[in-house]
Amino acid sequence: MATATFRIWRGEKGKGEFKDYKTEVGEGMVVLDAVHQIQADQANDLAVRWNCKAGKCGSCSAEVNGMPKLMCMTRLSDVNLDEPVTVQPMQAFPSIRDLVTDVSWNYRVKQEIKPFKPRKPDAPDGTWRMAQQDVDRVQEFRKCIECYLCQDVCHVLRDHREFEGFAGPRFFVHVAALEMHPLDTEDRIPELKQAHGIGYCNITKCCTKVCPENITITDNAIIPLKERVVDRFYDPVARLFGIGKKKKG
Ligand code: SF4
Ligand code: SF4
Ligand code: FES
Repeated sequence: MATATFRIWRGEKGKGEFKDYKTEVGEGMVVLDAVHQIQADQANDLAVRWNCKAGKCGSCSAEVNGMPKLMCMTRLSDVNLDEPVTVQPMQAFPSIRDLVTDVSWNYRVKQEIKPFKPRKPDAPDGTWRMAQQDVDRVQEFRKCIECYLCQDVCHVLRDHREFEGFAGPRFFVHVAALEMHPLDTEDRIPELKQAHGIGYCNITKCCTKVCPENITITDNAIIPLKERVVDRFYDPVARLFGIGKKKKG
């Protein structure tokens, strides 16, 4: 069987170093398999977060050769094994230990977003009627597994550390799912401009490139939300006549 070297970051609370581990690799293996093998055979105390091993729980996010990836969905056949494969925790979030980061900031951001507020029921039995074509647009956003790889790659968080005034691409997707829902009546546009800082996004599309669910974050969520902010706050005709406050479909 062939062997490959994995250069894994070991440490606690941001202090540590890369250590090399050589392990056997075979057909069908993913990076998480190699990490588990190393944990079982050579480093029993290696901390790694995972759950489903099927790309669905969003727990095994890390950086493989510098790229934000789900370790369970990164096939070794797609990685150059002639060189050591670096595996490190997400760099945008505080390190807890080894490959595990503290992503709790994301939970706090989500709590600040106004929840779904449906219109009054359409029928006396308390139910609603929606056309499939009206929900098509938000279904893409509901695929999010909250892996936070998009948050990790976004330079506003990663490099500029704007954790106070910027919600990040994952939460623009969440706001888009609510704002574009055909039954929703809430207004989240003022918060998008102010507390969630959508203006900081300069549409580099890095978030879209790393999303394992292939959500078209920038084109389908962020740009339409930015247009709503512009319509509300910068359209002089709308401002003069106080229009644009009504929700768009
Ligand atoms: S498109 Fe916007 S949200 Fe996405 S990574 Fe770039 S700056 Fe961040
Ligand atoms: S939008 Fe994509 S990259 Fe971002 S948290 Fe959701 S699944 Fe992960
Ligand atoms: S272990 Fe669940 S997404 Fe990787």
